[in-house]
Amino acid sequence: MAQQVRGVVAPGRGEPVRMETVTVPGPGPGEAVVQVQACGVCHTDLHYREGGINDEFPFLLGHEAAGVVESVGAGVSEVAPGDFVVLNWRAVCGQCRACRRGRPWYCFDTHNAAQKMTLEDGTELSPALGIGAFADKTLVAAGQCTKVDPAAKPAVAGLLGCGVMAGLGAAINTGGVGRGDSVAVIGCGGVGSAAVLGARLAGAAKIIAIDLDERKLAAATSLGATHTVHAKDADVVEAVRDLTGGFGADVVIDAVGRPETYRQAFYARDLAGTVVLVGVPTPEMRLELPLLEVFGRGGSLKSSWYGDCLPSRDFPMLIELYLQGRLDLDAFVSETIALDGVEAAFEKMHHGDVLRSVVVL
Ligand SMILES: NC(=O)c1ccc[n+]([C@@H]2O[C@H](COP(=O)([O-])OP(=O)(O)OC[C@H]3O[C@@H](n4cnc5c(N)ncnc54)[C@H](O)[C@@H]3O)[C@@H](O)[C@H]2O)c1
Ligand SMILES: [Zn+2]
Ligand SMILES: [Zn+2]
Repeated sequence: MAQQVRGVVAPGRGEPVRMETVTVPGPGPGEAVVQVQACGVCHTDLHYREGGINDEFPFLLGHEAAGVVESVGAGVSEVAPGDFVVLNWRAVCGQCRACRRGRPWYCFDTHNAAQKMTLEDGTELSPALGIGAFADKTLVAAGQCTKVDPAAKPAVAGLLGCGVMAGLGAAINTGGVGRGDSVAVIGCGGVGSAAVLGARLAGAAKIIAIDLDERKLAAATSLGATHTVHAKDADVVEAVRDLTGGFGADVVIDAVGRPETYRQAFYARDLAGTVVLVGVPTPEMRLELPLLEVFGRGGSLKSSWYGDCLPSRDFPMLIELYLQGRLDLDAFVSETIALDGVEAAFEKMHHGDVLRSVVVL
């Protein structure tokens, strides 16, 4: 049966978000309704609000969430009502050419709910990344629900649903950081700080955190950065080279996603090193590089979609590490807020005041 809940909606390009009544349909075949317990505010939500992702307004924002499955539709066997789950935005299909080749983290046909959530007047909402969890309840494909140990606090567990997973995975999965590597991370917000943590988990010997904000550098240091570079005062490329014996880092992660930071990542990398782009550019951005340098510097230039994660493999494992005290996910929760605090949280994010504001319901 359909239900009416509160939800945070971005009505149009650049307009402040509004709290609206949202109609959530009962789950159809392959779908689940989840009672949201916590949802982090990710920069991608702000990209949506600013029209930087696409123009399919109105958006139901929020996509970094944990909660409890309330009901499931026909044919759902992987989760059941009462399960504690982290929502993922890449529910793999198992059928496409990537899945069939054993690379499901590249799945080209990920699943979302077939039915639409709507405003009271019937206007269809576009849920951010197919989730829309700044709401009391949301409708997703059952495959978007990944069961994890309910001993983890929802505000922490939910962070694995996007930014923290993207950052950890950018280092571990996409970058393939290994024991003894040197790693540089440009932009140490929620995603970049998680990349620092991931580099530490993977055994990197040198982890260079780069940001424009002193507070972010301090947070990155507490998460495992061995060196910091203040991007306002320094030539980032020179600074990374100086810290790596003149060579550059083995892996450079761009967690900002702008042409200037990508260029820094490209040149701050050692020969045959790896650049990982995990920050998301906007459609108008362009990059120019000498093609001869692309060839001559070798190595690999990669993008990291969702940290190349496999939710069913990675979420429970990372929650286990967290519960063992081996992964400091608490450090990412700068503040908990109510559902009506999202617009203010964007402002704080914009001013660099937080790693993550997390809506707790
Ligand atoms: N690839 C994915 O799957 C994925 C998932 C989540 C988020 N993202 C993207 O990752 C990016 C970061 O997200 P976030 O939530 O961490 O954002 P955030 O706003 O918390 O962090 C961005 C950080 O970059 C710093 N910064 C900005 N310009 C800089 C510059 N020129 N040099 C150095 N530092 C700079 C800021 O000071 C801030 O600390 C966004 O583009 C977001 O859309 C990607
Ligand atoms: Zn697939
Ligand atoms: Zn996100």
